Amino acid sequence: MQLQIAPSILSADFLHLDRDIDLLNRHADLIHLDLMDGSFVPNLSFGFPVVEAVARKARIPMDAHFMVVEPGRWVGRCKDAGIQMMSFHYEAAGRGTAALIRSIQAAGMKAGVAIDPDVPVERLYPYIGKADYFLIMSVFAGFGGQKFIYESIDRITALQARIQAKGAHTPIEVDGGVDAGNALALKQAGASILVAGSSVFHAPDPAAAIAALRV
Ligand code: DX5
Ligand code: ZN
Repeated sequence: MQLQIAPSILSADFLHLDRDIDLLNRHADLIHLDLMDGSFVPNLSFGFPVVEAVARKARIPMDAHFMVVEPGRWVGRCKDAGIQMMSFHYEAAGRGTAALIRSIQAAGMKAGVAIDPDVPVERLYPYIGKADYFLIMSVFAGFGGQKFIYESIDRITALQARIQAKGAHTPIEVDGGVDAGNALALKQAGASILVAGSSVFHAPDPAAAIAALRV
């Protein structure tokens, strides 16, 4: 599966979002948007005013990652903003996961199911063939700039094996501490969408940092 690079604008310079979205339009595959409610995770990020501003400028698909208690509330706003991919945490949706996948898809978006590093990867197996993609967190959701948790590689390997065993082709996205040093191992484990915040935006040359992730 072709690797897609999804820089997270959480680490961008919000005073120069215009410039940074331009850069992503030219060099990246997706724009990763981290929505946090201060409840599901102990941090706030940004909301729809920022998402809608990014949408006006985006020429590549937007990938919204909801780290909120009630992700289902935001399906309509995402659709209206022109979001193409919407992921939410299994820990938030629980038994409502399958229904939320369907409602995101009914709104014309791709539905992704995310899990934090302490959730057994087996929890995702029932959604193979239902979800459009999976998001494996390789740090605990809530903050950019954390250290990559190495065990995430084994989780991706296990999920990829299960996806293949079921004859599916569901992409696996990985998010947290991704950089040029672990990109190849992540790709080999079966990840096909790499999210990267600080390794892109804190690099002296973000375009080169994106290129370096294309292992
Ligand atoms: C963390 C977010 C990530 C974050 C990644 O909760 O989901 O998308 O921005 O940032 P880095 O790449 O710096 O770990
Ligand atoms: Zn994210």
